[in-house]
Amino acid sequence: MRTRLTDILDIEHPVMLAGMGGVSYSDLVVAVSEAGGFGCLGASTMSDDELDAEMADVRSRTDKPYGVDLLTAAGDQTAKVERIIAAGATVYVAGLGVPREVIDLCHAKGVLVMNMCGKVRHAVDAVEAGCDIVVAQGTEAGGHTGRIATNTLVPLIVDAVGDRVPVVAAGGIFDGRGLASALTLGADGIWVGTRFIATPEAHTVEGYKEKLVAMAEDDTTVSRAYTGKTCRVVRNRYTEEFEAAGGQAEPFPMQYIKSVQDGANHLGAEGRPEGFDPDKEFWPAGQGAGGIQDLVPAAELVERFVAEAEQALARAQGAVTA
Ligand SMILES: Cc1cc2nc3c(=O)[nH]c(=O)nc-3n(C[C@H](O)[C@H](O)[C@H](O)COP(=O)(O)O)c2cc1C
Repeated sequence: MRTRLTDILDIEHPVMLAGMGGVSYSDLVVAVSEAGGFGCLGASTMSDDELDAEMADVRSRTDKPYGVDLLTAAGDQTAKVERIIAAGATVYVAGLGVPREVIDLCHAKGVLVMNMCGKVRHAVDAVEAGCDIVVAQGTEAGGHTGRIATNTLVPLIVDAVGDRVPVVAAGGIFDGRGLASALTLGADGIWVGTRFIATPEAHTVEGYKEKLVAMAEDDTTVSRAYTGKTCRVVRNRYTEEFEAAGGQAEPFPMQYIKSVQDGANHLGAEGRPEGFDPDKEFWPAGQGAGGIQDLVPAAELVERFVAEAEQALARAQGAVTA
């Protein structure tokens, strides 16, 4: 399925794996890129050595394009971006803020810059600063999120910047109907997080994937409990106690450190770490978790997204009576 996005990224299908910190490691990235989508490492929780090892692993297993996502809010990213460029990633994705200081550096080396946006103003700022692709991420999304719904945000961002750069829709997309919907709203593809956690390839602690299969669409909450910023997560005892105590958080990243010290945050770990309690864990998840019924290999998910979108687009045409 070709679009403006597949052309600029040099991939086959307009399906991007979100660069989820703690979850999108090399196994998942390789599976998605090899299937013709776009794999993206979530490096926000990785040390430099870990990032280097993950990028080397991706490159040893696929020649296909892939990206790396970092949290811009974590300060000047120049040194990390230099590592990304040296390792052969083709896209740098900036979460939480426009990465002004590295855009020229990326362009000089032929690396595209993509920015996460939760408001129209973020997208305009990103494009004016020189970003090549924007993600319109609606509030339904897992992880750090804003207040505007995907169905509203995507066409507004398409209107504001879609004539200049490809727009990618994110937030609550769990099957091919979401891809079809994104395309009809004027987007050029999708950026999917939560659905890809429920795959054998995702890097998680015990129970996270199974929780996503079991939960309903209203089992998430937007909380500052784990990072200090508004983050959509699985609602649990830790988030309920945080709200009951008044919901006062330290600024980012102090609250992140606090949740680690509380034994509630093992994002980036696997298995069953010491002190692990599933009812306290930092499990970012979007409302689309309500639509996840089973664990599916990531490559199969990419194929399903495309096939279901084609069906949904044909169905939509057939639904219109003369
Ligand atoms: C576990 C998890 C970790 C995430 N970490 C990051 C991150 O480090 N950087 C970022 O830009 N977005 C991050 N996000 C947000 C995703 O990039 C993406 O926008 C979101 O998952 C899309 O919505 P969906 O989960 O409904 O598919 C994360 C999301 C999840 C679920």
